[in-house]
Amino acid sequence: MAAEDSSKRDRFARKMTAILNAGALNLGIAIGYRTGLFDAMETLPEAGDADAMAAAAGLNRRYVEEWLGVMATGGIVELIPTPAGAPHYRLPPEHAAFLCRRADSVNLAVYTQEIPLLTRLALEPVIASFASGAGVPYRCYPEFQGFMNELAAAKHESLLVQRFLPSVNGGRLLERLRRGIRVCDLGRGQGVATRLMAEAFPESRFRGFDLDPEAIAEAAAAAHHRHLTNLSFEVRDAAHLSADPNLKGGFDFVTAFDAIHDQSRPLEALRGVLHLLAADGLFSMIDIAAESAHQDNLNHSMGPFLYTVSLLHCLPVGLNDGGAGLGMMWGRERALDLLAEAGFSRVEIVEMDFDPFNRHFQCRP
Ligand SMILES: C[S@@+](CC[C@H](N)C(=O)[O-])C[C@H]1O[C@@H](n2cnc3c(N)ncnc32)[C@H](O)[C@@H]1O
Repeated sequence: MAAEDSSKRDRFARKMTAILNAGALNLGIAIGYRTGLFDAMETLPEAGDADAMAAAAGLNRRYVEEWLGVMATGGIVELIPTPAGAPHYRLPPEHAAFLCRRADSVNLAVYTQEIPLLTRLALEPVIASFASGAGVPYRCYPEFQGFMNELAAAKHESLLVQRFLPSVNGGRLLERLRRGIRVCDLGRGQGVATRLMAEAFPESRFRGFDLDPEAIAEAAAAAHHRHLTNLSFEVRDAAHLSADPNLKGGFDFVTAFDAIHDQSRPLEALRGVLHLLAADGLFSMIDIAAESAHQDNLNHSMGPFLYTVSLLHCLPVGLNDGGAGLGMMWGRERALDLLAEAGFSRVEIVEMDFDPFNRHFQCRP
């Protein structure tokens, strides 16, 4: 074997080893997040042994000890040898900033749940679909809405009202929201974003639409619990909005947060948004920041992660009923094409330095 081939082979062997370790660490971090171990470790004033960590989290010492082995060898927690007896462990504050529930918009540990959850829910149907080309029905993902809500909550609660809305239409949307406008949030899930907007702008009226009756029921219950009277939720298929004459021109602002790429009829959904909008209305489509061609995503910092989430969820649900199957990584070019085909003549991409995962397509009829 030529020297160049051999070093390429060695490099790839090292990469494969790193992949096995990173995959295992993803799961270890997911366990630490779910069980509250990171949060418990952060509360401890000083490093401690496995007994101290288990006691702080209220968990079994032996399991915690094994988990600390994963975390210490993976460089997530620091191991401090002690001259006699068991080692001590410490969660560095620089790591805790990304791993604990308080981390809000930089909470990366919450994302470690995503691939284990999707694997449990959909790996077998997705593998079967590799042969058949079929979609995977939403009923295969019973807990996924709850998880997406957790993700959305972590992000929206710190960014939506504080950073995102002030960035829309050069800041001019805020004044309209304060005075009172009609807003529709499409593909709403369990409703965190709609609720936060409704709380911040009591003079405006908000309606959240989603295909999923359970998510809508959760969203409505949360709004009721908070006595919000300017907010309502409805089960609606975005592909059929244009067929309802009562909705025509009924909204001044429409949002779709990561909700267009999952649609099996995205073109009809975008035409439905046009149907909803008043003549001077504005549509904010927030979707994953990617390009459409694989070669243009080679340097995407989250490329393999996002394509995998797409493979296990967004693509298969988008293929249901012979659907378009855009996938999460449909990217800027396809998004602009589809928006133009739907009839949006003025589309502007607004940069969001506070949310590098996403891109904001600000669209006018
Ligand atoms: C990735 S989730 C985003 C949820 C929410 N917007 C957020 O930011 O967390 C996509 C949502 O689109 C909804 N959805 C998919 N197809 C739809 C359709 N045809 N009509 C309405 N909602 C749909 C799903 O039920 C899901 O709640």
